[in-house]
Amino acid sequence: MAKRPDPELRAVEAQVALTLTVDDFEAAARDMLPEMVFDYYAGGSGEEWTLRENTRAYGRWVIRPRVLVDVSNVEPMTTVLGQELPFPILLAPTAFQRMAHRDGELATAHGAASLGAIMVVSTIATVSLEDLAATGVRRWFQLYVLKDRGLTAALVKRAHAAGYEAIVLTVDTPLLGRRLRDERNSFALPPGIGLANLEGSGLPESSGSGLFSFFLERHDAALTWDDVAWLRSLSPLPLVLKGIVTAEDTRLAVDAGVDAIVVSNHGGRQLDGAPATLDVLPEVVEAAEGRIEVLLDGGIRRGSDVFKALALGARATLVGRPYLWGLAVNGADGVRQVLEIIRDDLMLTMALAGRPAIVDIDRSAVAPAPAARERGEEP
Ligand code: FNR
Ligand code: LAC
Repeated sequence: MAKRPDPELRAVEAQVALTLTVDDFEAAARDMLPEMVFDYYAGGSGEEWTLRENTRAYGRWVIRPRVLVDVSNVEPMTTVLGQELPFPILLAPTAFQRMAHRDGELATAHGAASLGAIMVVSTIATVSLEDLAATGVRRWFQLYVLKDRGLTAALVKRAHAAGYEAIVLTVDTPLLGRRLRDERNSFALPPGIGLANLEGSGLPESSGSGLFSFFLERHDAALTWDDVAWLRSLSPLPLVLKGIVTAEDTRLAVDAGVDAIVVSNHGGRQLDGAPATLDVLPEVVEAAEGRIEVLLDGGIRRGSDVFKALALGARATLVGRPYLWGLAVNGADGVRQVLEIIRDDLMLTMALAGRPAIVDIDRSAVAPAPAARERGEEP
C-alpha cells in the first residue's frame, strides 16, 4: 500500500505552492512565527503612517510602456560602486534573523549567494560577521556607531579583514523609534540568541522593548557629520550612508566625500511622519547631481516597484522584510524564492514596458498616476 504523505510535508508543500508573491510569503510567515517575532519584523514606529506610506507611494506612479521594442533579451544586470550586480536588488541589513529561522543570517547568506546578490550584514546580527564571510556571500557591513568608539573601530576593521566590500553607516537611528508593538510584547531576544558581533551580548532587561533600551544604553546619539571623516579613516572601504531623505543632507553627504547614499526611513521604523522614500527620491537625486550613487529602500514588494525607483533615479534598491518572510517560511530557499519573485517581476515589467536594459529605465518610463495628479501630488 502506498505510504500516505506526511501531513506536515503536505502542509509545507501547500504553502510553497501558494507563495507566488511577497504578500503570500508574509501571510505564511505570519502563520508560522510567534507573535512577538512577527510584530518586530512587520511593525513600524508610532502609528505606522510612514510604514504604510512606503508601500502606498508606488501606487502614485504609472509605467509608460513603449511598444515594438525588441525585448527578446532582457538584462537586469547593473553596477553599484563599480561592483557588478546580477540585478538591482540588495538585501537590506536586518537584525536578529535567528528569530525567523534556526540558521538565521547564515541561511540568508546562502540564499543571497545562490543568486550572486549582495547581503548587507547588520551590526546586531545573530551570526558573527566572520561566520557569514565564510559562506562566500558578497557582503557589505552595516555599522551602528556605539558609544564605545574603540569597539566601533574594531567592528570596521573586522569587516575589512573579513572581506566586506563596503561600510554602510546607518544615520537615521540616534535613538530607536517608538515601536508600540514591541513595547506591548515586551520585546526580548529568545534564549540562546545573542548579538554575535558584540561578544554574544544580549539586550538589556526591560519591561518594554529591550531593543529600545539597548540603543539608549549603547548606541551613540551624539554622532554628527564631523565623525564621518573619522569613519572613513578606519578602512579604505567605500562608505555608504543609509537613512537620508532630504536634499540638504544629500548635499552634506556629497561634501563629506561618501561614496553613496541610501534613501531610507528604516522601513517606517524610526521617525513616524517621515516621507515615503519614493516620494523624496526625485529631490535627493536632483541634489546628488550625479556626484554619488543613490540607492533606495522601503516598501519594495514587487519588480514594478524596483522599476519605478530606477526610473526616478535610484541606482539600485534594497529589500528588508520581503526576504525575512522567505527566511521564516523556507530558510535559504525561501530567501532565494523571494528574490527571484521580485527579480522575475522586474524582468517581465522591463519587457512589457519596452525597456530591455537597466539603462533604458529612464525618467520617461513613469508618470504620476492620474489620481495623484488630481490631488496635486505631481512632483
Ligand atoms: C531593519 N532595518 C535595519 N537597518 C539597519 O541599518 N540595521 C539594522 O539592524 C536593521 N534592522 C532591521 C530589522 C527589521 C526587522 C527590519 C524590518 C528592518 C531597516 C532595513 O535595513 C531597511 O531600511 C528596511 O527594512 C526597508 O524597508 P522594507 O524593505 O522592509 O519595506
Ligand atoms: C531595527 C533596528 C535594529 O530596525 O535597526 O529593528
